[in-house]
Amino acid sequence: MRIAVVPGDGIGPEVTREALKVFGALATVAEGMAPPPARVNSLRSDSTLGRRRGHASGSNLFVEVSFLPWSAEHFLRTGETVPAGAFDMLARDFDAVLAGAFGDPRVPDGRHADEILLGMRRRLDLFANIRPVRALDDSVVPIRKARASDVDFVLFRENTEGAYSGRGRVAGAGTSDEEAVEEDVTTRRGVERICRAAFAFAAGFEKPRRLGRRPRVLMADKHNVQKRGGGLWHCVFLEVAAEFPSCEPRHMFADALAHEMVVSPASLDVVVTSNLFGDVLSDLGAALQGGLGLAPSGNVHPGRTSVFEPVHGSAPDLAGKGIANPFGSIRSLGMLLAHVGRADLAERVESAVAACVAAGETTRDLGGKLSTAEAGDAVVARLAGGKPRGPGRAPRASARARRAPASPRRRRAE
Ligand code: NAD
Ligand code: IPM
Ligand code: MN
Repeated sequence: MRIAVVPGDGIGPEVTREALKVFGALATVAEGMAPPPARVNSLRSDSTLGRRRGHASGSNLFVEVSFLPWSAEHFLRTGETVPAGAFDMLARDFDAVLAGAFGDPRVPDGRHADEILLGMRRRLDLFANIRPVRALDDSVVPIRKARASDVDFVLFRENTEGAYSGRGRVAGAGTSDEEAVEEDVTTRRGVERICRAAFAFAAGFEKPRRLGRRPRVLMADKHNVQKRGGGLWHCVFLEVAAEFPSCEPRHMFADALAHEMVVSPASLDVVVTSNLFGDVLSDLGAALQGGLGLAPSGNVHPGRTSVFEPVHGSAPDLAGKGIANPFGSIRSLGMLLAHVGRADLAERVESAVAACVAAGETTRDLGGKLSTAEAGDAVVARLAGGKPRGPGRAPRASARARRAPASPRRRRAE
């Protein structure tokens, strides 16, 4: 299997390093050749991968990992965002991509992020941005009356069109009549395929089956205001729903869904929505499962090279401090493994992260004391069935006690 790694900016390389550490514990990983000068020295120099040969745990998975340097740093140094032919190369030479995060204050217009991240989503036609909202432990759920089992649904965000069309215009720049128009583009084909993906996933989703109910697919739009695009969403959603009689179609306006996610997350199985609503609602979903540091995602086109990345951004406020939470990146690696047919390994990753969260073996955003690297080590130790060395082994009760007074998030929730 061949994987491309694009660590990106800010905390991207820091959290990606930990995901690769976990990868090295699950598979025999060797560094592959990326087209020169596609190298990321900051990751290579610590031999994260070099020492991994033969380290794997009998999973029978052999992985060649190639680092791609696309980032703000690379752009500022070379003027290149992505090289010519980059997306064809990804599609041709790699089974999947693990991405970090993109965004750097030194590139205020975010041009490199647009061309790298939105470029991969569009040019690889990764139309489904799948963002699970799954709390791993009661202690991280910010809603007073909810438990982890109440927060378990999957958000399907349309990923190639909508407000991200890049189309628009500005007239009268700098005058008092200045007008900016962003085009929010909705196509029948675009809505049909994301709705189908959401229903197909829901039809096999284990949670509603366990609860003895039909899987619910909830579409959120604003067709009360956006009569054209929203109208198309509404009509196509119902057409696709008719193809999946085993599922229960539901509709809410996107604002009402934001409320529902907080007051009644347990009512949700699968949510499908447009690109921009999905972007906003997935950060809310991240908060429900314990924060941005925990939330994973996959930019997927079934059967094609797909890109996996944490929901969070480059967090310039944390970059370089070694304190970012790597669990969102590690869980994204889990999604990647499931995508390439290793659901068994994906489950092991998810369980190992859950065990760490339950034991308080976390970074400080979750109330723990671990550094980014120690949190990665903790997951590796859990994969091996053991406990990590060093700090962060406080029993769960005391981890919670430590967390309670310190966290503004908890205080707000109570
Ligand atoms: P952000 O997700 O980077 O950070 C938001 C908040 O969450 C910050 O307080 C940050 O410290 C915290 N946070 C994020 N990740 C965390 C982690 N792993 N552990 C602990 N705390 C974490 O969003 P932002 O501040 O709005 O954006 C910063 C930059 O990242 C911008 O340039 C933005 O465009 C970019 N961005 C990129 C992506 C991506 O590459 N997929 C996603 C979102 C934002
Ligand atoms: C995300 C991010 C991106 C988006 C940005 C960085 C372009 O917020 O992946 O959620 O808006 O999709
Ligand atoms: Mn976002």
